[in-house]
Amino acid sequence: MKIACIGGGPAGLYFAISMKLRDPAHEVHVFERNPRGVTFGWGVVFSDQTVENLMANDPKSARTIADEFAHWDDIDVHIRGECIRSSGHGFIGIGRMRLLEILQDRAAELGAVLSFESECDPDDPKWAEYDLVIASDGINSRVRDRFADAFGVDVDQRANRFVWLGTSKVFDAFTFAFEETDAGWVWAHAYRFAPDCSTFIVECSEQTWRGLGFDTLDQADAIARCETIFAKYLDGHALISNAAHLPGPAVWLNFRRIKCERWSHGKFILLGDAAHSAHFSIGSGTKLALEDAIKLADVLNRPALGQEAALFEYHAERSLEVLKLQNSARNSTEWFETLERYLHFEPLQFAYSLLTRSQRISHENLRLRDKDWLEGVERWFWERAGVTGKTAAPMFAPFRLREMSLENRITVSPMAMYSAVDGTPGDFHFVHLAERALGGAGLVFTEMTCVSPEGRISPGCTGMWAPGHVDAWRRITGFVHANSRAKICLQLGHSGGKGSTKLGWEGNDVPLDDGNWPVMAASDVQWSPVNQRPKAMTRADMDMVREQFVAAVRMGEEAGFDMVELHAAHGYLLSSFITPLQNRRSDDYGGSLDNRLRYPLEVFAAMRAALPPHMPMSVRISANDWAGDDGVTPDDAVAIAEAFARQGADLIDVSAGQTSTDARPVYGRMFQTPFSDKLRNEARVATMAVGNIYEPDHANSILAAGRADLVALGRPHLIDPMWTLRAAAALDYRDIHVPPQYLNGQAQLARNLKREAEAAAALRV
Ligand SMILES: Cc1cc2nc3c(=O)[nH]c(=O)nc-3n(C[C@H](O)[C@H](O)[C@H](O)COP(=O)(O)OP(=O)(O)OC[C@H]3O[C@@H](n4cnc5c(N)ncnc54)[C@H](O)[C@@H]3O)c2cc1C
Ligand SMILES: Cc1cc2nc3c(=O)[nH]c(=O)nc-3n(C[C@H](O)[C@H](O)[C@H](O)COP(=O)(O)O)c2cc1C
Repeated sequence: MKIACIGGGPAGLYFAISMKLRDPAHEVHVFERNPRGVTFGWGVVFSDQTVENLMANDPKSARTIADEFAHWDDIDVHIRGECIRSSGHGFIGIGRMRLLEILQDRAAELGAVLSFESECDPDDPKWAEYDLVIASDGINSRVRDRFADAFGVDVDQRANRFVWLGTSKVFDAFTFAFEETDAGWVWAHAYRFAPDCSTFIVECSEQTWRGLGFDTLDQADAIARCETIFAKYLDGHALISNAAHLPGPAVWLNFRRIKCERWSHGKFILLGDAAHSAHFSIGSGTKLALEDAIKLADVLNRPALGQEAALFEYHAERSLEVLKLQNSARNSTEWFETLERYLHFEPLQFAYSLLTRSQRISHENLRLRDKDWLEGVERWFWERAGVTGKTAAPMFAPFRLREMSLENRITVSPMAMYSAVDGTPGDFHFVHLAERALGGAGLVFTEMTCVSPEGRISPGCTGMWAPGHVDAWRRITGFVHANSRAKICLQLGHSGGKGSTKLGWEGNDVPLDDGNWPVMAASDVQWSPVNQRPKAMTRADMDMVREQFVAAVRMGEEAGFDMVELHAAHGYLLSSFITPLQNRRSDDYGGSLDNRLRYPLEVFAAMRAALPPHMPMSVRISANDWAGDDGVTPDDAVAIAEAFARQGADLIDVSAGQTSTDARPVYGRMFQTPFSDKLRNEARVATMAVGNIYEPDHANSILAAGRADLVALGRPHLIDPMWTLRAAAALDYRDIHVPPQYLNGQAQLARNLKREAEAAAALRV
């Protein structure tokens, strides 16, 4: 094959090497616009896994690269005069220029032709001479822009500004240095990549960038200002730019996240940054470019495949890898963009939050890297929870809301069981809730318990409107208190326009075949075309429902509950006021967020006033309607949380969605936790995170990073009432209360899990 590569960065050069290795008969010509020896950027970091992949592909160049690596283990986080050092991170780095030299030499040795100072135009007729033209022309790819529609290009320009500098100061750790200036915070990502040289990336928000005058300063003055800001880290060494040759007025950039739906168009094939980009803060762009090159060379050299199938396989495999990395990179990018949120953390927690920002590194990963450091974090966490000198998983630390002390941070999320008769919880509820309390969770929520027969979702929903309900609930709370350390919270709600539907497993949100009762909501907006059109509530309806909530709170206290939660999420009655997707009112209860919140806040305040001051009260909200600016956004949710907190909410239970059938949720591991993080650290309220959290490691990572105060698990508890006890056994945590009847089982499980872990560790060695 006769192949042209437009761009002699890591992608183009490594592709040339990989093609020639597989078949020396290929003619590969690499065109690079820069002169030899000139490039942007400084060092790049790799993981061990990337090096293994390079070794397998071309041991010769991989060995040369590996011989030149700078290795370091530590990460230093400098903030407010403190340096938090953790170890075991195992980085390897190399200068970008040196990497390119190694790849250039190897490509030439294998017979590829390299032409420097060759600016390429995608419309140049010379491409007709080639079988394939590889667009390895980087993040600002001209080829990609020329055929943007064909490639399905999606560009997301991020908010912060950064500049990629170098310095002769040799850092002995990967260094994050955060400095406060009059115009806001500026920070550096710095690491050594050669015996005498380090990368030094400076980043800040757009506002700070302008405030510091970086928008008007020329390169030399901007660098001098950075030297002043970071003087204490540079020890008199200068910061240096090697981007002076780049076109454009400034060296400061906004990172652009690139995605392409398709990676080939005719004979043009995208490779590396031209096809995708990953934020520099997770340092994986070069790795992706090199691994793309290996895969593309692989598929093109399997003649049986045919070119179409080869390109299909290339795109299918690589785009999945890219997606994973871009997800982590997005978390990391957002962490730096929302830095203000974490600046009130103590330095140790700030560093933990930084290290776990991409959600690729968890609590247990950190234990493997630096056990002592992680145990220091755990001790700190327990100390803040009021227990000094204890080192154990954060999920087992106590938590207090008003006079209610929770034994640990795990809760059983509210879950409808559709098994009540006329609102009365029966034997099923007794066993279900009792079992989960015995299973070790600190707090057990009831399902949404409805304040009136008409406020039920289905005929099987539990209720709190009749004296018989109080007795039935008292039987349950009595057992929980007598036999476990768990506290029990009554979730109260009204179904609104989503009421009068079948039992969950007979059809979610589907109206009853017969016996439907009339429903009401904020407005007469149907949940879906098959649901009833609700009556828009009058003021008299609102008074009536508020009093039903107040009566239910009083009954809840009488029934022995420790806490009450108001359900104002998921499109039910109170949520139908909050979300603009359901609320079409033109009176004081519709329109602005303040208006939409007026009635839910009125109900909350009335309930709070009816509850004794020692009892805590929470509210569950949908922090994102998943409908863009048409619905409640996470920013709105901050205002919503603040408004409920002002009415005395002790905890915001941060759920999301289920407010419209048009919502487009983005699911994934811990997918709603970012909203809990945002509310907790912007509105400064206690929060509970929920949603696809299923491993102890998830819970510990969330809690230690200050992303929530409590962690709720729903579905995991449906299948395993003993989830918390099992986690205690797995983490060898002995201080959890185990019902005495179950002690032998707990001890056996702990022993077996320990043995399994030891066997697995022995195998790894
Ligand atoms: C601040 C910063 C820090 C980074 N840190 C890391 C890190 O630590 N680790 C890591 O793995 N990655 C890092 N990256 C990302 C990394 O630089 C890229 O992902 C990687 O270089 C991609 O390789 P590439 O060959 O696809 O593109 P590039 O390296 O950009 O190469 C493209 C080449 O094409 C040439 N070119 C462009 N247009 C034309 C044209 N029309 N004609 C001829 N030649 C052309 C360019 O001059 C360039 O040499 C960082 C990026 C930034 C911005
Ligand atoms: C069967 C079932 C019933 C549910 N019922 C309720 C409920 O009554 N009240 C409520 O606020 N959330 C309810 N939810 C939502 C859960 O509390 C939880 O937010 C959701 O399942 C996500 O958490 P998970 O991924 O841990 O399951 C229910 C979820 C399930 C699976």
